[in-house]
Amino acid sequence: MAVPEKAAGRVASVMQEDRVFPPSAEFSKGARIGSLADYKKIYDEAASDIEGFWHSRAQDLPWMKPYSKVLDWQPPVAKWFVDGHTNASAACLDQHIAAGKGDKIAMVWVGEPTGERREFTYRQLHAEVCRFAAGLEKLGVKPGEVVSIYMPMTPELVIAMLACARIGAVHSVIFGGFSSEAIADRNQDAKAVAVITSDGGWRRGAQLPLKKNVDDALKSKAHPATTVKHVIVLKRTGQAVDMVPGRDLWWHDVVAGMPADHPPAAMDSEAPLFILYTSGSTGKPKGIKHTTAGYILWAKTTSEWVFDLREEDLFWCTADCGWITGHSYVTYGPLAAGASILIYEGAPNAPHEGRFWEIIEQEKPTIFYTAPTAIRSFMKWGMQHIEGRDLSSLRLLGTVGEGINPEAWVWYHEVIGGKRCPIVDTWWQTETGGIMMSPLPGCTPTKPGSCTLPLPGVCPEIVDAAGDAVEQGEGGWLVMTKPWPGMLRGIWGDDERFQETYWSRVPGKYLAGDNARQDKDGYYWIMGRIDDVLNVAGHRLSTIEIESALVSHPDVAEAAAVGRPHDVKGEAVAVFVTLKSGEPNDALKDALRKHVRQQIGALAVPDDIHFSATLPKTRSGKIMRRLLRDIAAGRETVGDTTTIEDYTVLAKLRDDE
Ligand code: WT7
Repeated sequence: MAVPEKAAGRVASVMQEDRVFPPSAEFSKGARIGSLADYKKIYDEAASDIEGFWHSRAQDLPWMKPYSKVLDWQPPVAKWFVDGHTNASAACLDQHIAAGKGDKIAMVWVGEPTGERREFTYRQLHAEVCRFAAGLEKLGVKPGEVVSIYMPMTPELVIAMLACARIGAVHSVIFGGFSSEAIADRNQDAKAVAVITSDGGWRRGAQLPLKKNVDDALKSKAHPATTVKHVIVLKRTGQAVDMVPGRDLWWHDVVAGMPADHPPAAMDSEAPLFILYTSGSTGKPKGIKHTTAGYILWAKTTSEWVFDLREEDLFWCTADCGWITGHSYVTYGPLAAGASILIYEGAPNAPHEGRFWEIIEQEKPTIFYTAPTAIRSFMKWGMQHIEGRDLSSLRLLGTVGEGINPEAWVWYHEVIGGKRCPIVDTWWQTETGGIMMSPLPGCTPTKPGSCTLPLPGVCPEIVDAAGDAVEQGEGGWLVMTKPWPGMLRGIWGDDERFQETYWSRVPGKYLAGDNARQDKDGYYWIMGRIDDVLNVAGHRLSTIEIESALVSHPDVAEAAAVGRPHDVKGEAVAVFVTLKSGEPNDALKDALRKHVRQQIGALAVPDDIHFSATLPKTRSGKIMRRLLRDIAAGRETVGDTTTIEDYTVLAKLRDDE
C-alpha cells in the first residue's frame, strides 16, 4: 500500500530518522526498566506470556476478592482479572495510607486568577473523597449509575472523580469548554442521574457560566435528559446562579456532616469506572467505556514506566480532567503510583505568557507533561518569558496529543529541559486508556518526532487495507494484535458501533485510526488519521460533527469541514458552506461561528469560513474533501476563496476521490 496522502508530506518533511538523542545515564540508575536490554527482555516476557506478565503486576492492586482468571479474550470482548473485586479509589488512596504514606503530599493545586494555592496529603485527600462519596451515596447514587462532571480544574474535580469511583458510580467528565447542547447530548446518551458542576470557573480572569450551561442543558429540547435527578454545585467564583429547589444542592451542603472515612465499594474488575466522550468519524460523540481493574493497573504501570516516578517527584501534567490525559496522568495513574501531583486551574498565558515557568519556579515540579500545541505557543510567545526563570527542578519532559514537529522537540529539549531532560513523546488514545508507545527515559534513544517503541504488553502492527503486515518502512494502518489491560471495553450503549469502528476493517485486531510507519530501527512514526477526525490543538474533533452543527443553522444548505495546517494548533478547522438564505458576509460568518460554539463549544469554532455556490462532488455525490483540503491549505486556489466560489472546473478535473 502506498504511503497515505496525508502522511506523505510528513514523511518527507518530518522524519529525521538519523537524528538520535541517547538515553540519560542518570535515569538508567535505579529505573524500573534501566537499559534497552532490560526493555527487550521485559517486552518479550510480556509478549510471550501476557497472562503471567499481568498476573505478577496485578499483585500491587488492593484486591477485595481475588480474581479467578487473568484474561478472558473473546475478540473484541476482553475481560481482565475475571471475578476479582477491587476499587480504583482504594488503589489511589487507602493503599498508600495503609503503607504509611498518609502524610505524603498527594496533590498541590494552583488556582486562577489570584494564584490561590491548596495542598492535600494522601490522608486529607482520602477524607475529602470519603465525605463526598458518602454524600453522593446519601443522595441515592447507586453503583453503575452515571454521574456527569462539568467542572473547572479544581481539587474538587479530582475529588468528584475519585468519590464516584469509591461508590462504584460511573463518571462521565465533560470538558468545561463544551456547550450546553454538548452537555445535554452526553447526559442523555449516558442516562446520567446527577451532574456535578460549579457556579462558574475562571478563565483568563473572566468567569465561565458553568452552572448556567448545565441549566440550559437540562432544558434542551433536542436532548432531554430526564434521568438527571440532582445537580451538585461547587461554590468557586461566587457568581450568582439559579438553584432549582429539590434538584440543585451546594457541594458544601452535600458533604456537611459526612464521615472522613467511608468504605470503598467492592467493584467487579470489569465494572465500568468511567465513560469519556470523544469524537469519531460520525456525527455523534461516542462514550468510550473503561472498566476498573485493568484500567487502573494500566494507568499506574505506564505512569511508573514512562515517567520513572520516584518517591520525591512532583508530577505536573497540564491536561484538563475533561480529557483522557487528565484521567490517566492527572488522577488515576500518578495517584495509584503514590506520586505527588500538581494541578493548575488557569490558562498558560494569563495573567502573562510566562505563567507556566513562574509556576515551575514556585512549585518545583520534577516532571512536566504537556502538548505540542502548547510548546509551539511557548516558542511563539518568546524567550523573554523564560529567560531568568529557574527551571532546574525539571528532570523529565513529556508530550502527548499529536505528533511533535522536530523543531518544537529540539526547542523543548534545549530551552525547557536545559538539554538535560529526556523527552517522552507518548502515543496513545482515549480508547487505549493509557500510553501505548513511548521512549522510556532510562533506556530508549530518542528521535525527535517519533514515539519510538511500544511499551511491554503492547503489540502493534502496521497493515495494509487487506489486513496484511506491510514491509518494514512502508506506511499503513496502525493496529494492535493483542489485548492489553487498559483497552476500552466498548462504546456506551452501542456494541455494534464498537465492533464496527475498531474491529471489523481488520478483523480481530484493534484499529487505532492512525497511519504509521516503522523506520529501520523499528521506531514508530505516527502520520495522521485514516479517517475524517481532526486534531486541533490536541483536541479531537469530527468533521461531520462540525458539519452537522453548521447545517442546523437556518441559513445553511450544505457544509463541509476539513483540516488545514496551522503553525500553532497543528490543524485548524476550515469550513465550506453553501447557503439557502442570508448574505455571504462577515456578519453571517460571525453568526455561524457563534452557532458552532453553541452546538459544540469554543474548541470547534471554524478558523476559516468559505462561502461557496456549490461544493465539489464526485459523480457519486461524495464531497471531494481532498480538493477542499488543498484549497483550505492554499495549495490550490480558485480566485478569492473567501467569497463565492465555483468549483465546477476543478471538480471536473478531479473526479477521482
Ligand atoms: C489521537 C488520540 C492520548 C491522549 C490525548 C489525545 C493523536 C496522540 C500522539 C503522539 C502522534 C498522537 C493520534 C491519536 N496522538 N498522541 N504522541 N504522536 N499522534 O487523545 O483525543 O483520544 O486522540 O491523537 O492521532 O489517534 P485522543
